[in-house]
Amino acid sequence: MATKLKGRDLLCLKDFSKEEILEIISFGDKLKMDSMVGKQEHYLEGKSVAMIFQKASTRTRVSFEVAAFELGAHALYLNANDMQLHRGETISDTAHVLSRYVAGIVARVFAHQDLVDLAANSDSPIINALSDLSHPCQILGDLMTIREKKGPLKGLRLAYVGDGNNVANSLLLGAARVGMNIAIASPKGFEPREDIVKTATEIAKQSDSSVLVTNDPLVSVQDVDVVYTDVWASMGQEAEHEERVKVMRPFSLTADLMGHAKNDAIVLHCLPAHRGEEITDEVMDGPQSVVFDQAENRLHIQKAVLALLLG
Ligand code: CP
Ligand code: NVA
Repeated sequence: MATKLKGRDLLCLKDFSKEEILEIISFGDKLKMDSMVGKQEHYLEGKSVAMIFQKASTRTRVSFEVAAFELGAHALYLNANDMQLHRGETISDTAHVLSRYVAGIVARVFAHQDLVDLAANSDSPIINALSDLSHPCQILGDLMTIREKKGPLKGLRLAYVGDGNNVANSLLLGAARVGMNIAIASPKGFEPREDIVKTATEIAKQSDSSVLVTNDPLVSVQDVDVVYTDVWASMGQEAEHEERVKVMRPFSLTADLMGHAKNDAIVLHCLPAHRGEEITDEVMDGPQSVVFDQAENRLHIQKAVLALLLG
């Protein structure tokens, strides 16, 4: 097993090289194949992993918990509201204490800065399970899925249509690192963060690929291999839902819009989906959709992340 990844925090994909990202994905592929033949190596025998969640989760929580179990480790689900954090204990004190107990901390937070503070004060690796800024574990699984369906990632074309949110930010960085060409179409005022677009553009230059941010969904999906979307109001933005639906309606992933992508293009969505908003039933349940294979791969990739970083 590689040693470069051992002990590292996973906060943002920009901190990982193309080789490291591909190593995680390839290890995910191996673990997936192992599990298909009933093989289960206990890379984390006897270790414990803390999982702090400030927000709801189905896939991330369950995939990490099952991953830890299948690797021989014990996962502790910690709802942040039930912790002393909720009564004012600081993030840094929490990190100091937890890292004396566990081999790694998986955390889903509102403010990305909480992850940075956890990492600065923990001797055990911190793994970003989604923040307001990014969702790197999701994108690692997505790259695994895209490679599984489409072959080598370099040179593939991907469009993300909708809100320029945490998932879009990580997709920009991940795609640029592995040399995919990425186009993001968001309404004015809902584009991904400028600093992320700038970083992704610089990374893309090194990878000989491209980054495009546009306000025109048709431009983004033209002849692409992969079309990706996500909810229009992320967790914590529920109050803006109605207003966002009005602005984002033209960015809905419909069969019409899919008609502009390649005929064999695949459809990804990190889920949960708001059917009838960012994606129609027809597209989500249609032959080009791979959203449930994508969700399954969260398990295999989470195993790879845990084994490589904490093993
Ligand atoms: N895609 C994803 O992270 O889903 P959950 O919010 O259910 O974890
Ligand atoms: N952008 C969504 C992703 C959920 C997995 C959110 O943050 O709610």
